[in-house]
Amino acid sequence: MKASENRVAFALEKDSLRVLRRALEELDEGFAGLPALPATAPGADAFDRVLLDAARRLRDNYPYFHPLYAGQMLKPPHAIARAAYALAMWINPNNHALDGGRASSAMEKDAVAAIARMFGWDTCLGHLCGGGTMANLEALWVSGQLHPGAAVLASSQAHYTHQRISNVLGIAFESIPCDRQGRMDAGALEERLQRGGVGTVVATLGTTATGAVDPLPDVIALKERYGFRLHADAAYGGYFVLAGNLAPEARAAFDRLGEADSIVVDPHKHGLQPYGCGAVLFADPAVGRFYRHESPYTYFSSAELHLGEISLECSRPGAAAVALWATQRLLPLTRGGEFARGLEAGREAALALHARLAADPQFVTAFPPELDIVVWAPRAGSAGAASDLARRIFDETARRGLHLALAELPAEFFDLAGAGMVKDRDRVTCLRSVLMKPEHREWVGRIWELLDQSTDAVLGQSQTED
Ligand SMILES: Cc1ncc(COP(=O)(O)O)c(C=O)c1O
Repeated sequence: MKASENRVAFALEKDSLRVLRRALEELDEGFAGLPALPATAPGADAFDRVLLDAARRLRDNYPYFHPLYAGQMLKPPHAIARAAYALAMWINPNNHALDGGRASSAMEKDAVAAIARMFGWDTCLGHLCGGGTMANLEALWVSGQLHPGAAVLASSQAHYTHQRISNVLGIAFESIPCDRQGRMDAGALEERLQRGGVGTVVATLGTTATGAVDPLPDVIALKERYGFRLHADAAYGGYFVLAGNLAPEARAAFDRLGEADSIVVDPHKHGLQPYGCGAVLFADPAVGRFYRHESPYTYFSSAELHLGEISLECSRPGAAAVALWATQRLLPLTRGGEFARGLEAGREAALALHARLAADPQFVTAFPPELDIVVWAPRAGSAGAASDLARRIFDETARRGLHLALAELPAEFFDLAGAGMVKDRDRVTCLRSVLMKPEHREWVGRIWELLDQSTDAVLGQSQTED
């Protein structure tokens, strides 16, 4: 492929602007009966100048849209989500009450029901919210109401916000150790359960650092014996329930996700949405009673459910629901469909990168990726030396246009002894790559080349310094 062809394929998408204009006219038609208003076009010169200034300021970003951005969990939304969100901005509906967003509330209910069906739930209570943190907060808040005074347990690799949320809610939080694959250790969980006082266990399906999938079948077996509430934080991994290329253990966990009491999944991570879109779902709609409140200013327009009656936040962006609804209509949440194939492509990319790293003596890999996140360390005399090298390789790849991430992980995740490395610290700063764009599959070769060249350059410099 020539460089110029490359540029065309991966420049910022602008074609949707054409349809957006037509869609806006379509929307305008719906209000054609209103008395005319004076034109409110903003002063053209100042408006244009400010917007162009904003565009220039936005250049100061990594190219999240490009496959050579292979660092954190970041990518722009799908074009349909971007256009649908922008379209809704001319109305700015608020999904708190039906008065604020009739159409977008109906779209939210449809979109959330489709997410629930993906987990095998036909009836449930759920809604969109600001993101994974807010969604987990709602789930743990409900758990706290059902099990007052009892602790929340989550693995040592669970998202840091579970501890913080528990603090905010005044619930005790305890961390359960992980195995060498970054999954919650079911044996350690059982030991803790035997001591009693546990209200909720959070299983993470797709940890933030490595995409590890907690052993849900084991956790469910313990739930049957110890009777705790099970919350699944699938903020990152939830959509992988649709992927056809998971390894058997991850598949077994996703197959039983529907047995959780509550599930969090983030459309703004793998659901192709703009930020500000998380979702929390409860298996038992009766938990809606905890949300009951009087609001003397709203809810009078209809006997139908207002989403504000079942969510902790008051005002919420109806535009987020419009974007999600449009995306799911274009790319339905079905196994074998285009959306699922996108997830599978990212996972293939991760497996391919892991295989190359594992075959190269310059690197030490951790466990194979369970989803689409790969972590690895440069081989060196010790964990400390590998950490220094990782930081230097991270800088060097960025100089060459490849953007990776760094992560601090337990040294046990890497076979340091097998690689002849001294464990002089408990944690290793390693390289991390989230291959969450379908295009990553075609770009793994290029990513590998840039990583290999950068590593050679850094090792060459190290030898000169020695
Ligand atoms: C597993 C998991 N849970 C929760 C969160 C928090 O989500 P948010 O950043 O949308 O608040 C993240 C974020 O990366 C996550 O990976």
